[in-house]
Amino acid sequence: MPEDLEELAARALAAREAAYAPYSRFLVGAAVRTRDGRMFAAGNVENASYGLTLCAERGAILQAVSAGIREIVALAVATATSPPTAPCGACRQVLAEFAADDCPVLLVNLEGEKRLITLGDLLPYAFRPSDLGATFCAEPRHGRG
Ligand code: THU
Repeated sequence: MPEDLEELAARALAAREAAYAPYSRFLVGAAVRTRDGRMFAAGNVENASYGLTLCAERGAILQAVSAGIREIVALAVATATSPPTAPCGACRQVLAEFAADDCPVLLVNLEGEKRLITLGDLLPYAFRPSDLGATFCAEPRHGRG
């Protein structure tokens, strides 16, 4: 396993410790690596209004994007299940906005089981910004208009 993915898995496992999941008791940790080598991690955050739950993967992705980053090059997900679980459909789609088909996705659990797949495995034929064709515009610049 490449060292950078091992490091990302460690961050996902650590983030899982801070997950807030009192309703499902299903704790998840996730970490993303960005093109510039930074890492962002999060645990799932549930709510008494259950539908407002935010998955760990989206928590980590949203942190990276909020830091101004638009390119994610790897994702690690940590759960206590065997085999380790893969991201939900919503998180696959959100990842596809910022990551390519060959983006590695490393699934890990507390026993050290690992499964390395790609975003393309998880979400073939992903719908991406480029699919918007002519209606797709580059991001508007900030501080104008
Ligand atoms: N969960 C995640 O954090 N990521 C996933 O990809 C699947 C599900 C969370 C949501 C909820 O807090 C708990 O796991 C049970 O569904």
